[in-house]
Amino acid sequence: MLNSSDRYGWLAKTFHWLTALAIVGMFPFAWWMTELKLGPQMLEMYGLHKSVGILVLTVTALRLGWRFVNPKPRFLGGPVWQRWASDIVHFGLYVCLIAIPLIGLLHSNAANFPVSVFGIVTMPQLIAPDRALVEPLQEAHEIAGIVLLVLLGLHVAGALKHHLFDKDATLRRMLPFAAASSSAAPERHDAE
Ligand code: HEM
Ligand code: HEM
Repeated sequence: MLNSSDRYGWLAKTFHWLTALAIVGMFPFAWWMTELKLGPQMLEMYGLHKSVGILVLTVTALRLGWRFVNPKPRFLGGPVWQRWASDIVHFGLYVCLIAIPLIGLLHSNAANFPVSVFGIVTMPQLIAPDRALVEPLQEAHEIAGIVLLVLLGLHVAGALKHHLFDKDATLRRMLPFAAASSSAAPERHDAE
């Protein structure tokens, strides 16, 4: 379950791939739902989008807590700037995973739509309904989504670069069921 200095434990992998699956599905779904005509189906699909979004927020909070008590494996190979680049992109991804659902929640609050998570839990009203805030919050939600997509592109490119060009264990040790050990990785070039 725990990460070691060379590999991710199953809990960190589960958090990562659950989030990745949710996010990759959410974008086409959200673009489709915003094209629907006002009616019961639209409201139902918006409700589903909000529920999954709050789930992503919850998983990210748990994941960050876990990351805090259980540090991630060491960076494999490459110059120091690449390690910085990878850390900055990871940080940006975490910021988006928190900011996007939070902004979405504020948007629903401002528009005076109560947010229920799968009809089980009703989220607290964080701000009072305010028409003037609806549009800026909707735009912020959309722009933050685009930032997340750009970061994701860099993230996936980095993972593929490690796998295909550096041929190290960076991607393998994050894959489900893969037991990538330090012996599968070439020598590290950075001093830790
Ligand atoms: C929306 C989808 C995704 C998000 C939000 C995301 C986010 C993250 C974050 C925040 C980390 C840092 C983990 C930590 O702090 O320990 C990470 C690690 C990682 N991700 Fe993703 N990821 C996504 C999709 C993917 C995909 C599609 C791939 C594969 C092509 C991938 C490959 C990796 C790898 C290999 C690592 C480990 C990097 C390392 O050990 O330094 N991720 N991801
Ligand atoms: C990680 C989680 C989330 C992602 C990646 C995400 C992404 C998106 C995207 C790409 C759109 C379509 C573009 C747009 O018009 O803004 C959208 C729309 C929307 N999202 Fe989210 N969202 C997330 C969470 C949430 C949450 C938690 C809520 C509310 C509680 C929410 C409420 C909305 C609403 C109301 C719209 C429609 C805005 C409109 O009518 O134009 N989202 N979301």
